[in-house]
Amino acid sequence: MKVATHNLRCTECGAVISGDAVNSIFRCPDCNGLYDVIYPWSPNGSTAISNDNLPNASALRWLWQERRTSTLPVDQSGVWRFRDLLPIVENPENIVTLREGNTPLYEMPRCAKAVGLDWLLAKHQGMNPTGSFKDTGMTAALSVAADRKFEWVACASTGNTSAAMAAYAARAGLRCIVFIPEGKIAWGKLSQSMDYGAFTVQLKTDFDGCVRILTDLVTRFPIYLLNSVNPYRLEGQKTPAFEILEQLDWQVPDHIIVPGGNLANSSALGKGFIEMHRLGLISRIPKVSIIQAEGANPLYRWFIDENRVMRPVKADTRATAIRIGNPASWRKAANVIDALGGWCEQVSEQEIALAKAQIGAEGIGCEPASAVTFAGLKKLVALGKVNREERTVLILTGHTLKDSQYTIDYHRGELLTDAEKAQIGEADQARHTALRKPPIVLEADSNVVLHALESHMKMTQHV
Ligand code: F0G
Repeated sequence: MKVATHNLRCTECGAVISGDAVNSIFRCPDCNGLYDVIYPWSPNGSTAISNDNLPNASALRWLWQERRTSTLPVDQSGVWRFRDLLPIVENPENIVTLREGNTPLYEMPRCAKAVGLDWLLAKHQGMNPTGSFKDTGMTAALSVAADRKFEWVACASTGNTSAAMAAYAARAGLRCIVFIPEGKIAWGKLSQSMDYGAFTVQLKTDFDGCVRILTDLVTRFPIYLLNSVNPYRLEGQKTPAFEILEQLDWQVPDHIIVPGGNLANSSALGKGFIEMHRLGLISRIPKVSIIQAEGANPLYRWFIDENRVMRPVKADTRATAIRIGNPASWRKAANVIDALGGWCEQVSEQEIALAKAQIGAEGIGCEPASAVTFAGLKKLVALGKVNREERTVLILTGHTLKDSQYTIDYHRGELLTDAEKAQIGEADQARHTALRKPPIVLEADSNVVLHALESHMKMTQHV
């Protein structure tokens, strides 16, 4: 691997610094902007580099394919397999990998039919080692922490980042501290932090409050910040864009739909597509649209505001992963929407619940925050923003087992309040009824079971 040939560029004022000159909060000292990692092939990365000196597209494709047959951990990783495009670690021996990435791209025929599209796929990032897309970013940024000889790493999290950080820190033998909002994350995620041995702190505040405390802490203690303001996270999170193209035999899809919380992942994927385009790996770039929950929708508000002002909100949604009112990376996400021509939509709690059940009924399953993508797609189709032939890929960010309580409550009819249920239209009401599969308790008697099976068959048709 080529050693670190990157710089950091402030996304607000454009100032360029070397990777090791960045401060502990990953913000530009002049304008408080966030950084992007840039390379000679980044747009405006280096005017001195001509196209002839850039990595060769066909050689890269061949190399990435070849590495699939290797037994080396870095080659088996779906992130480090593409390491030519993320030269961020000085000493490759410091790379910490759990063989992340290599996630499936599933066809979604029933969801496609339900929304009236010819073609719909889902890239399931929940199939990563700790069950979310965060692993792809964590392997990258935590390897940089190990490379720079940090002993402590930390993050504030709605649960998935902390699970990923705890696992990778444990693998690397680093110590880690996790801040999560008390009582507002799914238990599965909290249990992962404990299982992987993190120092886990539940703060009596929301996610945005956890970020405030952590930002203060890292300026007082030599601790490496692993929230997504750390631009190296995004270098790992751009690699699913490469995988999608490989999996589609380099045929570019039209539209990528991503959930939006702290708003880093959408920009990471956008960065991946833009870099591939610059290198000639693809001839055009798909649109990237971002979907938020109605109760945590600052980017949506920005999108529909004619003055384009970002105003933080007090966040509330059962999709706890994206319960974020003051997203750190909103400007990066906004740039991706503007540059790639996507949309931003918001979806209600009822719409999220229905979309999640429909994805589950495909045999795929995902956590609630991921289901906003399908709920949002329905809206974009209804509004005429996505048409029937558009080849669309949903990014499912987390595994269904991350928040099994949500699923159980839904199927028992206990998720939504009566007032929320009353707002559901007739057609969706019927869909919910067909999808809900609450467990029943029976006597251990085969006649009783047979009778129950017969009446179940009479009452239900295939959804
Ligand atoms: N989906 C899931 C499952 C998530 O965990 C997150 C973010 C998102 C979507 C949104 O991604 O923040 O890049 O816009 N979870 C973070 C966490 C905040 O702490 O685990 P984003």
